[in-house]
Amino acid sequence: MNRVVISASGLYTAPHTISNQELVTSYNAFVGQFNAANAARIVAGEVAALEESSVDFIEKASGITRRYVMDKAGVLDPQRMRPKFVPRGNDQLSMQAEMAVAAAGEALVVAGRSATEVDAVICAASNMQRPYPAMAVEIQRALGISQGYAFDMNVACSSATFALELAVNAIRCDTARSVLVVNPEICSAHLAWQDRDCHFIFGDVCTAIVVERLETATSPNAWEVLGSQLATSFSNNIRNNAGFLSRCEDRDPTERDQLFVQEGRRVFKEVCPMAAEHITRHLASLDLAPAQVRRFWLHQANLAMNQLIGRRLLGREATADEAPVILDEFANTASAGSIIAFHRHSADLAAGDLGLICSFGAGYSIGSLIVRKC
Ligand code: COA
Repeated sequence: MNRVVISASGLYTAPHTISNQELVTSYNAFVGQFNAANAARIVAGEVAALEESSVDFIEKASGITRRYVMDKAGVLDPQRMRPKFVPRGNDQLSMQAEMAVAAAGEALVVAGRSATEVDAVICAASNMQRPYPAMAVEIQRALGISQGYAFDMNVACSSATFALELAVNAIRCDTARSVLVVNPEICSAHLAWQDRDCHFIFGDVCTAIVVERLETATSPNAWEVLGSQLATSFSNNIRNNAGFLSRCEDRDPTERDQLFVQEGRRVFKEVCPMAAEHITRHLASLDLAPAQVRRFWLHQANLAMNQLIGRRLLGREATADEAPVILDEFANTASAGSIIAFHRHSADLAAGDLGLICSFGAGYSIGSLIVRKC
């Protein structure tokens, strides 16, 4: 069996930034218009008046200060409140493929790998812009990779770590020389921007990772994968009912359950202990303790969640150096969050340092990788 490394990562940042203040100003304008338009029904008790959002609440409840998005004007237009994308023809590169090609380009350069050396592309994200042909196959062609295979997969916020396990196993078993994992997350398109409880949560981004054999890796920031562990446990607390059956159920695409819906409090309460126990068990399976881990690249959904997981793991507050935070800048970027943290905060560590990548989210699903700097 081959020893395996994550040899490089890449990041595509969406072109527009929305600050909490911009978001709240637009949301509150929408609330004013809604309440004015429905004044009589609100007085008659037929419709509940909407309440305003607040920058203070968002920052305290989530730790998010801004987010990057693929389209800003459509999101901030109180009459629209969703991104506006121009449809592309079948002969043009799809939006998710474009993001993935940019992130992958960076990762391949850092890894020192050319298209002729990549035997598999896995496009793993919480939403795919079409069911088929697979985004991954389009990305494979756009990168000029003419050998091997490519496929899409979706495990919501854990898509990246679940894909990494497949990539690691392909290298370990010698069915590929190097595997590219890409995570184009356009969360702005599945977010209900009219819902005060969650309108601040998500942002758009794409990450990429190159996985290859230890013996071929030349990058200065290669991390040997010592182990990976996945777990799932069914829950309806994070759910999106949009799917190819929606049309046959005569569902209106604007119905609330056709977008991201969550029971945020329950998610918080249930997922934090699950993640901390999962990580502790995974480390113990390699005779390691959390205190031996130099850095945790955790899923980036909520700052308080990560702080609680840090306390459960270490018995004290984890420092920003031990568990870096990127959600203040990027918000929740679904499966890409822990990979952005890794991408931004791994080059400074020393050979022999241990790290742990962990994602958690809908399913529920949890995926972790224990890595050691080469
Ligand atoms: N602005 C102002 N007030 C708001 C608000 C907003 N945007 N949204 C909610 N509130 C109010 C609520 O109405 C509630 O008021 P009440 O106490 O009078 O009833 C109060 O703030 C608390 O709301 P709650 O929803 O309980 O907040 P919270 O502290 O649970 O924080 C989340 C909300 C979503 C940030 C938090 O639950 C969370 O992050 N959960 C985990 C989410 C997660 O990781 N999901 C994974 C997605 S992949």
